[in-house]
Amino acid sequence: MEQKILIKNIKELAFIQEEEDKRSRLSGSEMNECSSIKNAWLAIENDLIVGYGTMKDWEGIADWTNLKIIDARDKIVLPAFCDSHSHIVYAGNREGEWVDRLKGLSYEEIANNGGGIINSALKLREASEDELYDQAFLRAKEVISTGTGALEIKSGYGLSVESELKMLRVIKRLKENTDLTIKSTLLAAHAVPSEFKDNKAGYIDLIINEIIPQVAKEGLADYIDVFCEKGYFDNDDTRRILKAGAAHGMASKFHVNQFTISGGIQVGIDENARSVDHLEVLADEEITALNGVSTIATLLPSCSFFLEIPYSPARKMMDEGLSIALATDFNPGSTPSGNMPFVMSLACVKMKMKPNEAFNASLRNGAYAMDLSETHGAIALGKKANLIITKAIPSYSYIPYSFGSNHIESVILNGKVQF
Ligand code: NIG
Ligand code: FE
Repeated sequence: MEQKILIKNIKELAFIQEEEDKRSRLSGSEMNECSSIKNAWLAIENDLIVGYGTMKDWEGIADWTNLKIIDARDKIVLPAFCDSHSHIVYAGNREGEWVDRLKGLSYEEIANNGGGIINSALKLREASEDELYDQAFLRAKEVISTGTGALEIKSGYGLSVESELKMLRVIKRLKENTDLTIKSTLLAAHAVPSEFKDNKAGYIDLIINEIIPQVAKEGLADYIDVFCEKGYFDNDDTRRILKAGAAHGMASKFHVNQFTISGGIQVGIDENARSVDHLEVLADEEITALNGVSTIATLLPSCSFFLEIPYSPARKMMDEGLSIALATDFNPGSTPSGNMPFVMSLACVKMKMKPNEAFNASLRNGAYAMDLSETHGAIALGKKANLIITKAIPSYSYIPYSFGSNHIESVILNGKVQF
């Protein structure tokens, strides 16, 4: 059935991408821009934004019948967030490991004792596809409630042909059964599973010769990912796996420079990765190398918060002209949270991003990091009607400022009111 919605009396319609603005992402000082209209209206037809303007010039859309009208007096309308890095498909939680960290153990020590990713892999292998789906579905609903409209989701807790496929099928079901726009990523190279403990080369062969071809055959992944890190996969492993993914039509976006500077960023640039993610540690020459390339830097400040590791040098990166995306990294080990407003608060307070920069990193640049620039991340004619309607708040900057509170009244995805 045709669906038409008019949102009227909007206090401020913000993060508009004007028709002449063709930039798929914003870089450096551009990240501080925000085009907005005060006292605005916005019209939705089916799943798309079909009009917007100021109430002053409102002429009505004469032929609209069966119109649902939402009065947004005192409220702000924004694009829904584009969270380009998450691991929301997992079984159980790891709060015991968190308590161990509070007592003084490090993330690395816990992983070396069989905890960490391997712990989640054990739990995931025991869970049925339906159990996994039910848990992930609740997390999908949760991220919608905090304003996320587009989400990248990774595999990576299966670490075998069968269990990686199980995770990716769950992601496919989330695509079918929620109004989130979802991109899926194969992260078989997240850790070396116990059965290959002394045979990493054997596991990499399995990834390249079996997992990637099978996943590609079933069309289950848009991207290929690798945890490029000391003790996990080195630069040569990473390059091989990214190339194998590319040969099967998967673009790359991958974990690098979370704990150590490995040179993996250059691998990403060479392999034309869509994004390099984490970058809690970053060398000056890597900042220079990232300038002007198509690969975007995706930063995950709520991972720094939870693991108490350094925050990425976002201010310096933007001052050098780089383009930055922000994402949650929602996962059971390093970031058990999928809350983009909290990510923006951390980005501002801990990385000295300005509110406009944090929003653009979570909107247009997040869309870019998932190849969704044409359809998501901005208010524009013809873009998806993926919107946040706030409660009555003084300004959109109030969202990252007043951290820990929920300022979202309603979310519309694909033109459908979610709540
Ligand atoms: O992005 N660093 C690698 N992967 C995840 C954490 C995985 C886990 O601890 O379960 C991350 O932080
Ligand atoms: Fe991650």
